[in-house]
Amino acid sequence: MLKKHGILERNSLPLVIAILLVVSIGGIIEISPLFYLESTIEKVEGVRPYTPLELEGRDIYIREGCYVCHSQMIRPLRDEVERYGHYSLAAESMYDHPFQWGSKRTGPDLARVGGKYSDAWHKDHLIDPRSVVPESVMPPYAFLAEKELNYRDVAEKIRTMNKVGVPYTQEMIDNAKEDLETQADPFASSTKMRARYGEKIVQRDFDGDPERVTEMDALVAYLQMLGTLVDFRTYKAEDPENLR
Ligand code: HEC
Repeated sequence: MLKKHGILERNSLPLVIAILLVVSIGGIIEISPLFYLESTIEKVEGVRPYTPLELEGRDIYIREGCYVCHSQMIRPLRDEVERYGHYSLAAESMYDHPFQWGSKRTGPDLARVGGKYSDAWHKDHLIDPRSVVPESVMPPYAFLAEKELNYRDVAEKIRTMNKVGVPYTQEMIDNAKEDLETQADPFASSTKMRARYGEKIVQRDFDGDPERVTEMDALVAYLQMLGTLVDFRTYKAEDPENLR
């Protein structure tokens, strides 16, 4: 056996092949359980798929590269928890495809920014960050308030999310456009939208412009729900309900 090992030690190509073989077996053993997501992410009450408007906002967040400067993952370290709030749970990003954890914080973590500021603050901040935070180095995104949201393919986006495992129903796909318009219009009847996405959905004219649905509406709707789904007054990590 040891003699045979000598062949590997003296010949670089067989050695490389043997290393690859060993590493890939180890890799498969480590990684394959993660594909059974059901067992690796504990379910937490309150976590739901994004509404069509929030999903569009999330796409703008990705398109504009907000993740280049902002993370969305609060680590369980004292300084982070004191600054941003309860550390992020895996379940809170279980419907994120792709996830937005990020790897760089030029700006603060946004995992719990929802509800921290008013819609008007977000609008002012996105149009001109220096108008509300004088020392800010964040670039302005004023065009978002001018640009009408193109949501022609929102139903297709939701169908795609459904294909990668987000539990959207056929009813949600069929009513995607209507639900999007409802959420951005405080005077629209929201009974059906709420029946689909939950009572806690925030329905507002996010950008203060009732005439049209802009990209600002979508992005602010998304920012305002970040980190608000789980009620941390009642959530306990060791609750057996959450360990199933
Ligand atoms: C070049 C880096 C950079 C980019 C890109 C960037 N930001 Fe920021 N952002 C910052 C910095 C720095 C701050 C802190 C100062 C401030 O509040 O403006 C900040 C602050 C924020 C805040 C306030 C957070 C808090 O808790 O006070 C929000 C919300 C925000 N950014 C959203 C966005 C969104 C949405 C985008 C994409 C459209 C974006 N940022 C793109 C750097 C950036």
